[in-house]
Amino acid sequence: MSWCSGLEAICRPEVPLRDFTWYRLGGPARWFVNPRNDAELSDVVTRCNAAGVALRVLGRGANVLVRDSGFDGAVIALRPPCFDEFTIDGGRVTVGAGADFTKVVTRTIRAGLAGLEALAGIPGTMGGIIRMNAGGRHGEIASFVSEVRVLGADGAIRTLTREQVGFTYRHTNLDGCIVLGAVLTLSPGDPEALTARFRDIWNQKYRTQPPVSDRSAGCVFKNPPGQSAGALLDQAGLKGRRVGGATISPRHANFIVVDDSACAQHVLDLSDLAREAVFEKFGVRLEREIEVW
Ligand code: EPU
Repeated sequence: MSWCSGLEAICRPEVPLRDFTWYRLGGPARWFVNPRNDAELSDVVTRCNAAGVALRVLGRGANVLVRDSGFDGAVIALRPPCFDEFTIDGGRVTVGAGADFTKVVTRTIRAGLAGLEALAGIPGTMGGIIRMNAGGRHGEIASFVSEVRVLGADGAIRTLTREQVGFTYRHTNLDGCIVLGAVLTLSPGDPEALTARFRDIWNQKYRTQPPVSDRSAGCVFKNPPGQSAGALLDQAGLKGRRVGGATISPRHANFIVVDDSACAQHVLDLSDLAREAVFEKFGVRLEREIEVW
């Protein structure tokens, strides 16, 4: 009997993941699961663990590159209208993992709550943003998180404090857990001023980065301590370098953009080539920021 028998309403076999990522590359997921509530999600995790089925959680696919062979396991997508709670109680904002982060940002601004405007233009679901401590030059999500609700590998639901999540630069210790939601603590602010700052940061970002219409997964590498990966890649002369349908963006060297002739392997080969070039020139080993499945 298959691990997912009886789950036909929420589990489909062989679903192309290209339809669910910003890169629009890569092969299928062996199974694609859309749980509708905590109990269904917990059931799926427990069954996968018992059957030795590998698991990944998909948000908006803004930071993921799926290999051309696809993912031989279960991909769990927490999608609205499930897992997208959004409630405001004073400065305390409770958000479900499946909520679209840009909408969370704009709704808090409209409610006169300050903080998230600094994270303008970062795509993803709340779960993905928490999981990788997303951020940019104006801040990171960790600064606003009080609690994170997670489903552990054992199928149990726990609430973790900010300290227990262990936020560091683009990293948390949530490996093996699935984020269900978070409580953010924001301070009062003037919606007009917050909107102006949101627009400024958004514009700044899109002046220096490839347009959102370009297919990419944001920055490919993490910034090494005290340095900029983009600047190192640029100084290594990599802007415009191509492998197949993948190109190092002429706008920002830490982005790899793709065209219709690309496959996932082109992106992987180009990022390996770029990492080698930076190592040869500067002796710095860049670490990937995007997740490869
Ligand atoms: N630079 C270059 N050449 C380039 C790119 C950048 O010389 O091709 C220089 C810039 O002129 C600047 C410095 O490098 O002096 C830093 O560049 P930038 O301000 O663009 O920021 P970044 O460190 O490259 C970070 C985040 C971005 C986020 C921006 C803006 C990381 C790895 N990247 O980029 O996040 O959008 O700040 O807030 O932390 C992402 O996470 O996917 C991402 C794109």
